[in-house]
Amino acid sequence: MTPRFPLLKRLSALGLGSLLACSSDDETAEQGTNALQPGEPTELLPYTCAADAARASTPADAADVPSGFRDTGRTVGVAVSEAGLQDPAYAATVAAQFGQVTAENEMKWEAIEPEPGVFDFSRADAIVAFAQQNGMQVRGHTLVWHSQLAPWVDTLVGPDAVREAMTRHIQTVVAHYRDNFPGVVVAWDVVNEALNVMQGPMGGTVIYRDSIFYRELGEGFIAEAFRIANETDPNALLFYNDFGVEGSGGAKSTGTFDMVSGLVAAGVPIHGMGFQMHTGPTDQGPNAADFAANIARYAGLGLEVEVTEMDVSLCSIGDNSLGRELQRFRYNRIVSACFESPACRSVSLWGLSDPVSWLNDTGCTQGTLVLDTQPAPLAFDGSFARKAAWWGIYDALTGCSYQ
Ligand code: XIL
Repeated sequence: MTPRFPLLKRLSALGLGSLLACSSDDETAEQGTNALQPGEPTELLPYTCAADAARASTPADAADVPSGFRDTGRTVGVAVSEAGLQDPAYAATVAAQFGQVTAENEMKWEAIEPEPGVFDFSRADAIVAFAQQNGMQVRGHTLVWHSQLAPWVDTLVGPDAVREAMTRHIQTVVAHYRDNFPGVVVAWDVVNEALNVMQGPMGGTVIYRDSIFYRELGEGFIAEAFRIANETDPNALLFYNDFGVEGSGGAKSTGTFDMVSGLVAAGVPIHGMGFQMHTGPTDQGPNAADFAANIARYAGLGLEVEVTEMDVSLCSIGDNSLGRELQRFRYNRIVSACFESPACRSVSLWGLSDPVSWLNDTGCTQGTLVLDTQPAPLAFDGSFARKAAWWGIYDALTGCSYQ
């Protein structure tokens, strides 16, 4: 029988019990930063599955290694770039592992409608064609967002001009995929990141984020956008997507749930809530149980849920073997929490391999310090080899949630 080394034991052996003891305290846990250096044991540790104590997690050296996430029957997606797909090894890994893709940047407004009424679908179409050829689904990302917006939109004046631009954009983009790639783009992030939290002495207050859409159309721009998308493609699943709303508590989560509940109550055609899930390796922000509770309340509205952009940055602990085991554990718990709900349609990772993660754009910093480690937040390394994180996800997909 394989000896088991539960994560807790291993952490205390490394003198890191205090890291776990503080894991409910954001600040203290964050200060565990880079306490570790490379050189810890590198083997993949077995875990015990919560619901099936007899089953150990799959060992790294299993001869009959499963070929990919997509073979588990769960929908697991990945953000890809058109440039990345030109690398045969990258493309082969995506096609073998994932059942869904999201265009990391190619469907954003600045890319697809850079000038008023001038649409450039070339790079986005290359991604969707790749998905179609490989029997994959696509999440359309994203129709209405304050960021990566074509600059001309921000210069529009008055509600009529903004409404006209928003309507044309949604109708043209959604109809393009409806007609040219039927059934491939199954879901759209119709509105992305519309809420914000103002920090203040009284704690966070949720507000509508400043954008040309909110300024000119008021909060009703959200309902309008969903109605236009639904009229254009009644078969597409329409999502609201945001970050920092994964747990059930806090101003932004509460405000978002209230906003989405209001849309549902008003009969707005919204079908799902997307949780971005840019997170770290300790069980917080949110903790997995709290994420499950949050999923349950959205499911109670009759909505589907998705993890849309997951990555687990190792900046707070360092990219070392312990960090990678914590990352594996974290992926496992979050992916398990999602798929344990019947409302969970898919989980997507925000990038294929560590070297192409968007988190490398900022790297690991603490205040003005640049830390000597990498975010390394994804499931594959630069050679497209599976990391410990891959096994955490795979185990979750096959019913082994770690305890
Ligand atoms: C990011 C991309 O990954 C980067 O390449 C780009 O420079 C900025 O945007 N939330 C979202 C995504 O909804 O679209 C963002 O993607 C990451 C945060």
